[in-house]
Amino acid sequence: MIEINAHTLTYRFDNGDTLFSNLNFTLDDKITGLVGRNGVGKSILASLLTGEIMPYSGSVTTFCQVGWLRQIGVEEIPTLYETISDFLGVRHRLEALTRITAGGCDSHDFGLIDDNWQLQEKLEQQLQVLGLPVDPFLPCKDQSGGHLTRFALHQLFQSNYDYLILDEPGNHLDEQGKNWLIEQMMHFDGGILIISHDREILHNVDDILELNTLGMHHYGGAYEVYAKHRASELNSLERDIDHANSEIKLMRQTMQKNRKKAQQRASQGKQVARSGSQAEIILNTLKQSAERSSGSRESNQNRQLLQMQDQLSTLNKKQELFKQQSLSLEKV
Ligand SMILES: Nc1ncnc2c1ncn2[C@@H]1O[C@H](COP(=O)(O)OP(=O)(O)OP(=O)(O)O)[C@@H](O)[C@H]1O
Ligand SMILES: [Mg+2]
Repeated sequence: MIEINAHTLTYRFDNGDTLFSNLNFTLDDKITGLVGRNGVGKSILASLLTGEIMPYSGSVTTFCQVGWLRQIGVEEIPTLYETISDFLGVRHRLEALTRITAGGCDSHDFGLIDDNWQLQEKLEQQLQVLGLPVDPFLPCKDQSGGHLTRFALHQLFQSNYDYLILDEPGNHLDEQGKNWLIEQMMHFDGGILIISHDREILHNVDDILELNTLGMHHYGGAYEVYAKHRASELNSLERDIDHANSEIKLMRQTMQKNRKKAQQRASQGKQVARSGSQAEIILNTLKQSAERSSGSRESNQNRQLLQMQDQLSTLNKKQELFKQQSLSLEKV
């Protein structure tokens, strides 16, 4: 079974700040795109799904072998890995192979090889297919990030993993590399979670998950379906905002009118008092009762107004999230 379940997943930083909370979702043998604005927590979520870091609460249950391509900036690769073989994690094996070929017989070297006697030939063949220099001991600083990413992806697609988590692989790929990636994804016999802002890649997924500060939202379908849903959500949000604004305006006008009426009544009362047409005791009672009822109506209306303003501010925040997310997809 190919499945990864996230149950009430919550992540907090050491300083107590919560990045996201109560995420519930399931990944299966489909290709799922994960979108969300920069810094919302997609890469941290990937680390949680692969078990590299632990959640603050909630759980990840994995029913398959998961391979992972981390999000690394192109500029970081040469600082982390000296040669292509370091980047591919085969340097020690290749060096052991070289020593054995030169006549060495250290048992540790034989252990490292572990029957992978064709490693160098296979590697060179793969490098050639991918258009990379065939010498795995060449320094990474001389390679393009696109080439290195492509090779790392190639290894994952050729692996025995059932599920791949690819964190923004498109960032380092040119058009040709991106097309190659899409083709590989289509032919991969397993599930994929691809984190991406790239519409072309998102056109080729089965499902889209969007992570934002309100949580995780599932959109069944590729980019077109996602874009359509979002457009209709945005329309309805804009309608709600217009409605809330008109209600607030109306409420303010009503309160203004009521205040004016109360002032008029108060000045009429003063005139009556001055004319001496009513006993002072009756006037005072009427005045107090009018003040009480107008005061309680005003405080009710103030409460309602505050509620409406709260609702409007929530709607405005949602609209802001929508805009940020749209911008992050327009970048590409
Ligand atoms: N080790 C860390 N300690 C503290 N904060 C961190 C750490 N790593 C990441 N962050 C912060 O956590 C937030 C989420 O980071 P993350 O890298 O998961 O975002 P992202 O959605 O992948 O962004 P992007 O689209 O830019 O890749 C960011 O605000 C980031 O600055
Ligand atoms: Mg990231």
